[in-house]
Order: sequence, then C-alpha cells, then structure tokens
Amino acid sequence: MSNKIKRYLVTAALPYANGPVHIGHLAGCYLPADIYVRYLKAIGKEVVFICGSDEHGVPITIKAKKEGITPQQVVDKYDGIMKNAFKEFGINFSYYGRTSSKTHHETAQGFFRNLYDKGVFKEEVTKQYYDEEAKQFLADRYITGTCPRCGNPGAYGDQCEKCGTALSPTDLINPKSALSGAVPVLKETKNWFLPMGEIQQTPAFQEYIKRFEDWKSNIKGQCNSWLTEGLQSRAMTRDLDWGVPVPVEGADGKVLYVWFDAPIGYISATKEYLAGNNESLNALSTTNWQDWWQNEETSLVHFIGKDNIVFHAIIFPMMLLTHGQYILPSNVPANEFLNLEGDKISTSRNWAVWLHEYLVDFPNRQDELRYVLTSIAPETKDSEFTWKDYQTRVNSELVSIFGNFVNRVLVLCDKYYAGLVPTVNAVLSDPKLVAAQVACKESVAKSIAALNENLQAIKLRDAQAEFINIARAGNKYLADTEPWKLVKTDEESVKQILFDALQICAKLSVAAQPFLPHTSANLANMLNAQGLVWSQLTDAVLVQPGTQLGKAEILYKQVEDEEINKQLLRLEEIKKSNSEQAPVTKTLNEVKPHISYEDFDKLDLRVGKVIEAEKVPKADKLLKLTVDLGFEQRTILSGIAEYYKPEELIGKLVTVVANLAPRKIRGIESQGMLLMAGNDFGKLYSVGPEQEIEPGSAVK
Ligand code: MF3
Ligand code: ZN
Repeated sequence: MSNKIKRYLVTAALPYANGPVHIGHLAGCYLPADIYVRYLKAIGKEVVFICGSDEHGVPITIKAKKEGITPQQVVDKYDGIMKNAFKEFGINFSYYGRTSSKTHHETAQGFFRNLYDKGVFKEEVTKQYYDEEAKQFLADRYITGTCPRCGNPGAYGDQCEKCGTALSPTDLINPKSALSGAVPVLKETKNWFLPMGEIQQTPAFQEYIKRFEDWKSNIKGQCNSWLTEGLQSRAMTRDLDWGVPVPVEGADGKVLYVWFDAPIGYISATKEYLAGNNESLNALSTTNWQDWWQNEETSLVHFIGKDNIVFHAIIFPMMLLTHGQYILPSNVPANEFLNLEGDKISTSRNWAVWLHEYLVDFPNRQDELRYVLTSIAPETKDSEFTWKDYQTRVNSELVSIFGNFVNRVLVLCDKYYAGLVPTVNAVLSDPKLVAAQVACKESVAKSIAALNENLQAIKLRDAQAEFINIARAGNKYLADTEPWKLVKTDEESVKQILFDALQICAKLSVAAQPFLPHTSANLANMLNAQGLVWSQLTDAVLVQPGTQLGKAEILYKQVEDEEINKQLLRLEEIKKSNSEQAPVTKTLNEVKPHISYEDFDKLDLRVGKVIEAEKVPKADKLLKLTVDLGFEQRTILSGIAEYYKPEELIGKLVTVVANLAPRKIRGIESQGMLLMAGNDFGKLYSVGPEQEIEPGSAVK
C-alpha cells in the first residue's frame, strides 16, 4: 500500500449470533485478524479493530424456531457467549458491537436511504417463492434445493456451500421450504435490487478490481470467476419480520437483506466505539468516524472466511462505491476452511471443538490453541485439526523448543548468578565457541527479518514458524557450547553465552506478542523485561547486565495422552450418537436396497411405554428415557430432544428395537432404540400403536 496510509481499520467478519464459537471460527478469521492487528500495533501503526454480532438473517430466525424462543432471545444469549470466548482467547477487538443496536439500525437505514435517493436501486415486482403453509416468503436459507452448478442437493437459496456459487432461490432445482418442507409457490412481491451487473461496468468499479491483483489467489480466483460470468442484480430487501426495517414508503413488512445490513455493522460499530469512552481511544489521533471510513489515509482490511468472499470483495465495495463517500477495502485476506478429525466442522452435528469447552478442559492454555491453529491455518487451502497433531505440536514445539530453551537459560542463570543477568567481561576466544555464537546471531537475525516480512504479507503460518526458529537457534547455541560443562573450565565464556541466550529469550518475548500474548507477558515478567517494543528485536541488548530475573516458571505444560484420549472419546461419542440417534434423513424417493425376509425377521420390535424422560446434561439432542417393555424396563437414549420435551413423552406408547446391541453414549448405556418418522425438514414423530396395547407386544 502506498505511504499515504496513516491508519488501519481492520475488521473480522461479524459472526451470526446463533451458536457458540468453535476452532473453525477462530482459525479462519478471528485469530489471523488478531495477530495482524497486534503486529500492526507493535510496529507503531494506528489501528482500530472491529467485530460484533450479526444478529439478523435467516440463521437466527431458524435457530429461534428450533429452540422455541424469539430471535431476540437467541441473539441476547449468544452475543454474550461469543464476546466472552473471543476475550478469553485474547482476541483484542477495539470494539465488539451488535447489529441490533440503535446506532446500527440508523446507520444501515441511512445508508439504504442514501442509495435509494440516488436512484441506485431498481424497484421490481417479481415472483418469489412463498410457503403457503408457513405463510412466508422464502428467501436465502429458508429455501433449499439442488445446486444447478454442482448438483449438491442441500444448496441454499442464497448460496451453494459446496461449490461456493451464489444463487437465487429461483435457480434451485426441486426447491423446498426449509420451514415446512412444502413445495413453494411463486407469488408477486416488490423488492429493491442492487444492479450489480451495471455497477460492474462502471469505471470506478473497474478501477477498484485492479486491487485484486495483489490479493491472495483464493480471493482473486473466486472474484474473477464471478466477474467473468457477469453479476446479476440482487435484492437488497426481504419480506421478513426480523431485521432492519426498510426505511422507505411502501415497504411495510420488509427488512434489509442481511448482507446489506451486516457489513454496515462495521461502520456502526466503529461509530459506537469512537463515540464511547474506551481508554484505548486516547491512543488515536482522531476519533472522528469519517476519518476511519471516508478518508484515503485509512487502509481498510477485512478478515473473513471463504464463504464470505463475494460479499466483502464485491457486494459491499459496490455499496460503498455507489454511496460515493467511502473508502474501499485495500485487502480482503480470506481463509479457507478448517476441518476436524477428517470431517467438516458442523454446529448442527456438534462436530466441533467449542472454545468454551476447551477452556474447561485446558484452563489457561489458550496460547497453546492459538499456536496450533496458526500452525495449521487454512491460509491457502482447507486444513485439518486433529487432537494428535495438537498434542505433537504443543509438546514438540512449544514445550521442547520454546519452553525448554527459556527454562534452561533461566535455570542456569539462577544457578550460576543467583538470577542476575551476568556482566560480560571478556569476549569469546575459543574459535569453536565463536563460530557457534556467529551462527546463532546470523540465524536469529535471519528469522527476525523473515518474521517481519511474513507478518507484513499476512503469511501468519510462516511468520509463526520463524518465531519458533528463533528459539531453535537459541537451543542450538546451547547445544553447541554446552555451558553446563564449560562452566568448570571457562566461567567467563559461560557468562557471555548465557548473556547472549538471555537476549534471545527477550527477543522471543517480543516476537511472541502477536501470536502468544499470554506467554509473551509471562516471559517478559520472568525476564523482568516488561515494556520491550518490536523495534528492539534487532537490538543487541534488551536485558541489561545486573537485572534481577524473575522466577523461572514452566511456560507450557506437556499435553498428556489421557487429555487427548478424553477429547477423542468425546468426538467418537458424538459421531455415534449422530449416526445412530439422528432422525431419519433419507431423501424421500431414495429407497435402500432389498433385504430378505430373514433379515427383516432378525429385528425384535416391541411396544414400549415411556415412564420417565429427562434431558441428558450437556447434550443438546439427547433424551434419556426409561421405557417399560412389560417384562422389563430399559434405559434408552434417543436423539430427539429438539423435537420432544421430556414431559410430552411420558405415558406414550412407542416402538422399540428391543434386540439392538446396547451401546454407551455419553457414558450411559442405551438398551435399544425408538422408531421415529422423520424427514429432512425438521419434522419428527414417534411411531407407536394407534390403540392402547400392553407394553411388550410384538410389532411385525
Ligand atoms: N454473519 C456472517 C457469517 O457468519 C458474516 C457477516 S460479515 C459482515 O457468515 F460483513 F456481513 F458483517
Ligand atoms: Zn453447488
């Protein structure tokens, strides 16, 4: 970027406030953004770092429907949970806003009104899908069907998550309502469209897209394929009741498209931050929000996941551009996805490592997770988190290389010099020692240069590897010179070596700042070298002779096999309960292959009566039932908690697979299974006899 840049406005995608935060969120967007911001601040740049909860849109209303609460209750619940998780992991936002705030509603409406008054939107009455059962228009995720591009049968009305194509509901093959499963009908409604195809042709937009050249290839690639295909107009309003009301005449019952309002959330949150009284404001040269959004001296950088690319690199810039007063993003670093143990992370299948759960199982070990997630960051392609790999990286890198180096140096200084930084009286003379010293200095200097280059280029994985290389060089220096042996013959040289090693420790405390903020602070305390700044990384002396060192604490605990096994067991149970207890989700016309009568006859199906039912703690989907089979009572776990309240089941006659081999789920033995009738659309009913009949009766 050109040198007129005076300040940076960095954003991290506003997460939907419809669930807790998992490692995929952290690795994809929030952690890289945080590292970059910490780096910018470290090199003395002025930065505002903005995030917040995205509280509108279909993901919220669908969640509300599922839980039987209001959308407002959903967002109130998760806003706090998410904000707290980010804080725990040291994601240091300047401000975390919410799109339900008054400032946001006003800002989003003002923005819409501005474009409306300029005549940017095309007002059009079009036929949109409508669910006659649910009495609702079906936009975005309210409608699913088959992707016309890749054939994915679970594509949404706004996007196919499999191939990344942006869709309109009318593009879907075999569309069906996500609310009722009904086949929707077409019904006329008026909406306001952003004529993206026209904006694409404007000189201003053509000028803007030259920036893509310098961006990561995944973004460039996706955007170019969009642009080559030609952009379609897209409605910026929706017939829904949850969202920011459309601020024009004749728009009753309509709200802004969530992808219109959400990115404006960055602007609203900036306004709220700058108008507030956060202490960090004192460090800013200007608290005028326009300076941050409407001034070419600001560099705007959006950190996002790959499913957000088109919205941040094309649609939002088009909005900013047609408004006319705003700056455009100077970079949109998008990451690919993180998978977990061979499978796509999924909130609905509980296939995730949740941050709040990690904090319970690994208290005060946030930096370990930050470290691992950065080492495997999906910067250029999808990557994978496994617990084994977590253990290996923590133990063989953080513990054995970084932690071990620091510990050895501090322990030796404590032993030889009572914890005082030694005063060096003579230079090394033994050629072998001199060679080791020179090699170490060179490799530390090289790593620091590469560290800076990679941070500048937002290659955070490589940057963090250089950080570890600094510790590696330190370890090699100790191994080459063996001060613990040398001390018997050459005390003066040992002073020099440990003095050098302490300087490397201090450099590590500085270089750790962006990646491992908690460790960086701990280490600075141990060295009694608080307040060191980034530019000192290239200084020769960071801790002065005679400084009293603090107590040598262990920086990182070894990750034990039991800890890992516990996590793996948890995932295994989730997998089991997903595959066995999940409601039937067969596509209706897809029938399984024939079986023989003998196969069928192996099933022992019985009528049972539910006599007790309760929720299984910490398992959203599971109910624990006691079912009377007449001749005995069984404990049965069933994944139906989203469909039945425990009290609704008591007294009900159900059909039990009585000879299914018992299985432990969440530590409880399940002795059978209930038959359920279910479909793709979130309906599930228990199957039982239509008349009262005694428990234990056979079903055939
Ligand atoms: N809530 C969206 C998601 O989780 C991201 C919104 S980013 C914003 O995919 F720019 F719109 F705010
Ligand atoms: Zn597709």
